[in-house]
Amino acid sequence: MCFRSCKIVLAIGKTSAGLSLDPIYSKIVAAMKRIYIRIGQTKQACEPTLHYRIIRELHRLPVNLSLSFSVTMTTPARRLEGKVALITGAASGIGECCAKLFAEHGAKVIIADVQDQLGQAVSESIGSSNSIYIHCDITNEDQVKNAIDTAVSTYGKLDIMFNNAGVADVFKPRIMDNEKKDIERVLGVNVIGTFLCMKHAARVMVPQKSGSIISTSSLTSHLGGMASHAYSCSKHALVGLTRNLAVELAPFGIRVNCVSPFGIATPMTADFIGLEREVFENMINGVSNLKGVTHKPDDVAYAALYLASDEAKYVTAQNMLVDGGLSYCNNSFNMFKYPEESA
Ligand SMILES: NC(=O)c1ccc[n+]([C@@H]2O[C@H](COP(=O)([O-])OP(=O)(O)OC[C@H]3O[C@@H](n4cnc5c(N)ncnc54)[C@H](O)[C@@H]3O)[C@@H](O)[C@H]2O)c1
Repeated sequence: MCFRSCKIVLAIGKTSAGLSLDPIYSKIVAAMKRIYIRIGQTKQACEPTLHYRIIRELHRLPVNLSLSFSVTMTTPARRLEGKVALITGAASGIGECCAKLFAEHGAKVIIADVQDQLGQAVSESIGSSNSIYIHCDITNEDQVKNAIDTAVSTYGKLDIMFNNAGVADVFKPRIMDNEKKDIERVLGVNVIGTFLCMKHAARVMVPQKSGSIISTSSLTSHLGGMASHAYSCSKHALVGLTRNLAVELAPFGIRVNCVSPFGIATPMTADFIGLEREVFENMINGVSNLKGVTHKPDDVAYAALYLASDEAKYVTAQNMLVDGGLSYCNNSFNMFKYPEESA
């Protein structure tokens, strides 16, 4: 994790020559034990090593001087400070979670979606100084162009384009029952809509000679049999588009990646599978490779945060699977059964 520093200054009154410092040490240590650092929602006590460092510093000081010293401590950094991010499909689900996380990490966030009321509400929850909402149907090139131009005219640049908007179709198990218009609709949003977002992001990022383009693909880009034909091929296509564009834009220092979740309870999955949140999550937990955790939108948001940040400065053309290892693990042979499990 990346850290930034903050300073705690502790000033202690004059001591007279010859006075033992022992009672002062113990007072300082007692005081330090009462100091807590707040990091997000969590509150943690000072590291014990800090006490030793303070005491070591005290030893170096002449006893007849006023004792005053500062300690450098660490708190999590805002990893997107000064960056501008446009997120499509940010009115709900994974995109909403990403928008909030990116803003917490210092980014100015443009929420682009077709659900105006929800999008406005997400923007308001972030705060008007750090976020705006723009109506943008990604299948409409004029609206995509307008969203990107508004990002640049409002905040001066575009550092992060997160193509997260997507749709699923009504699942029909037999290919014979699938309609041409259904596959066209899914490809129209997931592939062509994302293509338009990439095109207009590149238009402003190439002259900047920097940027990070991320798209939400899916585990279905890697494994067959996890979703409908239309959805699965749309997410495969996104990975192909990502790799091709990564080659084209690499000379300009622009990185292009995908993030691929497994199964998260959101409005989309509720519509697609028609299950209550808890039932859906239990179903996913049942087939998941990684046990003891439930897949949530913030799993994707943190992966996207990494790809968007300068920490990923050498990472491009990747399909980052956030799937608990499911795409590469097959436990059908049950090879690693612990003896106590069979008891
Ligand atoms: N939830 C999962 O299990 C899962 C798994 C893998 C991939 N994904 C992908 O994650 C992304 C986000 O999905 P989610 O699960 O958060 O669902 P969601 O329905 O909560 O969010 C999708 C958002 O995209 C918006 N959108 C749809 N069509 C649009 C268009 N034409 N223009 C602009 N915005 C549009 C919707 O209004 C919505 O706000 C999608 O690309 C989805 O395919 C989701």
